[in-house]
Amino acid sequence: MKRLLLSGLLLLTVQGANATSIFAGQAKAAAVCSQCHGIRTPSADAPFPQLAGRDADYLQSALKQYRDKTRKSDIMNAIAGSLSDDDIANVVAYYARLKP
Ligand code: HEC
Repeated sequence: MKRLLLSGLLLLTVQGANATSIFAGQAKAAAVCSQCHGIRTPSADAPFPQLAGRDADYLQSALKQYRDKTRKSDIMNAIAGSLSDDDIANVVAYYARLKP
């Protein structure tokens, strides 16, 4: 019984690590992205594009282009370079479902 419970827990953790997590995305956005992009709207005088409510496919491909440097931006190349596929999926899932 104990063993069954344990393997069930293990399975849950493994699935949890792979599933897109809006909560992980929210944490990442709050810690990193919001400094420039804000959560819903960037500060008015800043040159930072808004992310909230944008198309998920667009955001995802933009971040991957920054990461592999096919899209150039000193700032975003550095930031996207440190993101894993899961980080990108999570943060995109979070921003895309926000109301702008
Ligand atoms: C230090 C400031 C800064 C931080 C932090 C930052 N960004 Fe950016 N981001 C920018 C700037 C500046 C641009 C515009 C770059 C360009 O001209 O392509 C941009 C552009 C983008 C774009 C493209 C938007 C579009 O309309 O094409 C996406 C997507 C993006 N950032 C996502 C993120 C995510 C996700 C994070 C957090 C992991 C993040 N950014 C953190 C400054 C920042």
